[in-house]
Amino acid sequence: MRDQAEGLRRLARKQDRASRIIAVTSGKGGVGKTNIAVNLALALCQMNHRVALVDVDLGLANADIVLGITPHFNLGHVFRGEKILKDVMTEGPLGLKIISGGSGVTDLANLTGWRLEVFIRSLEELNTEFDFIILDTGAGIHRSVLSFVLAATEILVVTTPEPTAITDGYGLLKVIHKESPEAKVRLVVNMAKNPSEAELVANKLNSVLREYVNWEVDYIGHLLREQQLTKAVSEQKPVLLAFPSAHSSRSLTEIARVLAGEKNHTAPQGMKGFFSKVHHFLTR
Ligand SMILES: Nc1ncnc2c1ncn2[C@@H]1O[C@H](COP(=O)(O)OP(=O)(O)O)[C@@H](O)[C@H]1O
Ligand SMILES: [Mg+2]
Repeated sequence: MRDQAEGLRRLARKQDRASRIIAVTSGKGGVGKTNIAVNLALALCQMNHRVALVDVDLGLANADIVLGITPHFNLGHVFRGEKILKDVMTEGPLGLKIISGGSGVTDLANLTGWRLEVFIRSLEELNTEFDFIILDTGAGIHRSVLSFVLAATEILVVTTPEPTAITDGYGLLKVIHKESPEAKVRLVVNMAKNPSEAELVANKLNSVLREYVNWEVDYIGHLLREQQLTKAVSEQKPVLLAFPSAHSSRSLTEIARVLAGEKNHTAPQGMKGFFSKVHHFLTR
């Protein structure tokens, strides 16, 4: 009996240490996912969390560009079996660890057999090393994107006030709700004119979700459309570091606080659970 209790406690401690995996995604492309993922990861580093950023937008991998780094190796090398994950990790600002996407790997479905196994196993090693693993994903509901999104227990959906972004956001949220009803889903509205426009967008999305699928998401913040962010992008510097007092930087720090302060509603599943789910979605 005592052994059993100790075993359970050990397991709980182990689970406490498992990384929180947060997928940043959107229905429509170009809504600011990469900028939000990169700067959120950095804001979490500023709060002394151990953070890894994994660029799984395999079509348009560009987290490195926003960070202004040129890594020698990327996920493509891991997928091709040429490198192990630890060898493709780059150290970024504030101790952030970055695993760059491989733009040579567009079709994850081809990643079968031992290569996928090797990849999954090497990602599992990250599990106890980080508090947060932020996934910068692609947009839309294609399988290569959804596999990562649906496998995460926490999903941050980004939209802008543009009608197409809202419509595509709604389409994506419906799929997430259907396929992964237990996930903790949060919404960030980017490129708003003002806070009330952002709130209006969140309300609009939630009222449609309530009406059609009897569900809603947590609206946790907004970023204004801001020139300093565009300037930071063209200088290849994360806005949080280039313009710490910009509205975007303050908003991102606030969103990071919400994420760090809010307990994950579902138990962190760690990398093992995460990647066996990716595997499941890819092979079903
Ligand atoms: N809050 C914002 N204000 C102004 N421009 C923005 C903002 N967020 C994103 N952008 C612009 O939109 C472009 C696309 O952003 P990005 O993060 O790459 O989107 P995604 O990853 O969703 O494709 C960026 O290059 C940047 O110039
Ligand atoms: Mg992107």
